[in-house]
Amino acid sequence: MDQLRHEERIQRAHEEIRRTRASVAKAPSRQRYHFMAPQGWLNDPNGLIHFRGRYHYFYQYNPFDAFWGAMHWGHAVSDDLLHWEHLPVALAPSESYDDHSLGGCFSGTAIEHEGKLYLFYTGTANNGNGLEQTQCVAFSGDGVKFEKYAGNPIITAPEGYDPANFRDPKVWKHGDTFYMLVGAKKGDFAQALLFASANLLNWEFVNVLAESRGELGYMWECPDFFPLGDKYVLMFSPMGLGERKTLYLVGEMEYSTGKFNYTTVGEVDWGHHYYAPQSFLDPKGRRIVVAWANGWQWMPWWQDWGPTYQEKWCGWFALPREVKLSDDGTLQFLPIEELNSLRFGEQSLENVQVGTEGLEIQVADPVAYELYLECDLSKSETSGFALHLKTDTEHETIIYFDLLKGELCFDRSGSDGWTKGVSRSPLFLKDVDKLDIRVFADTSSLELFVNGGRICHSHNVYAGPWQTKNSITAIDGNLVVRRLVTYGLSRTTD
Ligand code: FRU
Repeated sequence: MDQLRHEERIQRAHEEIRRTRASVAKAPSRQRYHFMAPQGWLNDPNGLIHFRGRYHYFYQYNPFDAFWGAMHWGHAVSDDLLHWEHLPVALAPSESYDDHSLGGCFSGTAIEHEGKLYLFYTGTANNGNGLEQTQCVAFSGDGVKFEKYAGNPIITAPEGYDPANFRDPKVWKHGDTFYMLVGAKKGDFAQALLFASANLLNWEFVNVLAESRGELGYMWECPDFFPLGDKYVLMFSPMGLGERKTLYLVGEMEYSTGKFNYTTVGEVDWGHHYYAPQSFLDPKGRRIVVAWANGWQWMPWWQDWGPTYQEKWCGWFALPREVKLSDDGTLQFLPIEELNSLRFGEQSLENVQVGTEGLEIQVADPVAYELYLECDLSKSETSGFALHLKTDTEHETIIYFDLLKGELCFDRSGSDGWTKGVSRSPLFLKDVDKLDIRVFADTSSLELFVNGGRICHSHNVYAGPWQTKNSITAIDGNLVVRRLVTYGLSRTTD
């Protein structure tokens, strides 16, 4: 471990950040209230934690380009998960186990122990034997400056596992023992490997916590594991599962064997731009989930990462969501209540009938807004309806609710002249007579939450500020809208 080289690498990153951040801050596609890096490339959320009275976000960061490259950990702090202050880069590639142009300090978690902040990450390097991933640790007394452990790496891929697919440690404490879950690949199948430790430095393999026999993909990125109510949840980002790219399993954990027995499989988000979600417990007792709002080249709909590279940056986090366990054992994802504090210019309607000619939706700010819609399905006589968002004469994003098929289609083919595609999901309409829909719009994204957050679709939509119209239409007959409320949302970013 060479602390001087690490500091020098961090300084290099800071020089680059200083050089470009002012011009990036003025770029037209920047989000108004979503978390972004000051410049450069961002992907997964890492090390989410509430430490010494503040929320900390770390993130996969390449300050030297608007595309993925040697990974650093960016770092920011907040009091409310909405307004963020950027701190010095926490980790930079600097050691034989994490210094490579196609590697670096990959995703991981933070945990507090004896007053110190520990960051667990995957070192990715290639020293002539192909890419090798190992689990590493760094610590800090002040939560700002991190020192890599001299004994790194602390875990290497066990015999029989692919060393190029052994990554993204999630660490938590249960009783007196620390546990670590690592995404792994054995043969053609994904596994989540469980390790245990008494001191966070010496680790022993416990068991395969859960695995795919092909039905759940060949590799699980960013496994995340947490208790919720009387259950446990395993959340991961599977590779090799077509359009499914963020899943959750709900079940029971057996610590005596290190086995997780699940009974429910669900989708965290069906949209095209929601990946690598990570959870943490906040001081209010909430389980909060944050994800990267984009995706990788291997996803079936992928065409590019959007136009923001032209402005020398790329990537943001989807809105923080609180996870809840429903009575039927599935999960609900709700935008955190802090977002309510950004609202202004409320406009509302109650008990209106919407026909095929449609109803224009008024919003106080056409770029950044929230829309809430409650439909009375028991009184409606229509086979479906559509929301048309961020529309001008040439563009629109259409969200169809097909009430006969019980299907939702989020169609961004005509959204922005940039990437195209449709995400589909079931609507789960059985015994539902009230359908509630929430949309959060920002400069370059639309996030949709239906039925109390049981169905979510997140998409990036690079609408121009001239795409100001929003409306709702019934496909035939009449839709009864019990309540329609919109708010402008104020800016939290610079
Ligand atoms: C997920 C991921 C992780 C990896 C990181 C690299 O998006 O591929 O598995 O640690 O990104 O930046």
